[in-house]
Amino acid sequence: MNSISPIVLMLGANADVAKAAIPLYISKEYTVIAASRSTEELKAFAKDKQFTAQQMMVLYFDATDFNTHQNFYDSLPAKPHIVIYAAGFLKNNEEALRNWEDSFNMMKVHYCGAVSILNIIAMDDANQNLERIIGLSSLSGVRGRKSNFIYGSTKSAFTQYLAGLRQYLFSRNIQVNVIVAGYIRSKMTAGLNLPESLMLEPSFIAKAVINAGRSFVIVPGFKWKMIYYILRLMPERLAAKLP
Ligand SMILES: NC(=O)c1ccc[n+]([C@@H]2O[C@H](COP(=O)([O-])OP(=O)(O)OC[C@H]3O[C@@H](n4cnc5c(N)ncnc54)[C@H](OP(=O)(O)O)[C@@H]3O)[C@@H](O)[C@H]2O)c1
Repeated sequence: MNSISPIVLMLGANADVAKAAIPLYISKEYTVIAASRSTEELKAFAKDKQFTAQQMMVLYFDATDFNTHQNFYDSLPAKPHIVIYAAGFLKNNEEALRNWEDSFNMMKVHYCGAVSILNIIAMDDANQNLERIIGLSSLSGVRGRKSNFIYGSTKSAFTQYLAGLRQYLFSRNIQVNVIVAGYIRSKMTAGLNLPESLMLEPSFIAKAVINAGRSFVIVPGFKWKMIYYILRLMPERLAAKLP
């Protein structure tokens, strides 16, 4: 790998949003290390897009296999300039309430796995390249709501972790951003009955990722920005009436 290109490390790279962001980074002359459990799908994606090995490399990464994270990071062919944590797992709240493994997997994918790998990345002072970490979180994490508080609480924890990490890395001039996304048309929401007028395309979220600047919280889409501020300010007695 030619180390002149800046490196983007995409964790959970088979996510639809990640796959929309990869070509955007490549068009800006980044090399993308796409890390995922679904390596064959990503290799087929790279082939289909005609990306060279210099432009996109695929590595195996399981966010929930914490004991492998240090070795995964140490074995990277080059240390990243930008890291994106895109892994996600959604189970219906009622199912997750009855099935601990579903609840636990949401915690592992959105929080434990993220903390495990991002701690390793953040603590590598020797990586002078690192300039930005971006986490894909959710509006579900803004207020506890009865219809989705298990998924939502794992995203809330992830958002708070990133907020603290941003402060921690400030002195090293490393930016940390959280994308607080509303509904995205992706594998995760396929088959769910969601309002069409609020759906965002993965490509739209991907643009917000690659254009991330100095603001910590990035809420893509005007309608979702409004919803975000209303949710934040809403008194609990009104939030309790939401689904
Ligand atoms: N879709 C929405 O409405 C929405 C809204 C707000 C936020 N988000 C968040 O945005 C991010 C991207 O979502 P998306 O809609 O693009 O989702 P997606 O297409 O469903 O992709 C989620 C990806 O997470 C990966 N993943 C799950 N468990 C993993 C693990 N243990 N290790 C590594 N990767 C793992 C999956 O990998 P495999 O392909 O290997 O299964 C899958 O590719 C997620 O964090 C999601 O929670 C989504």
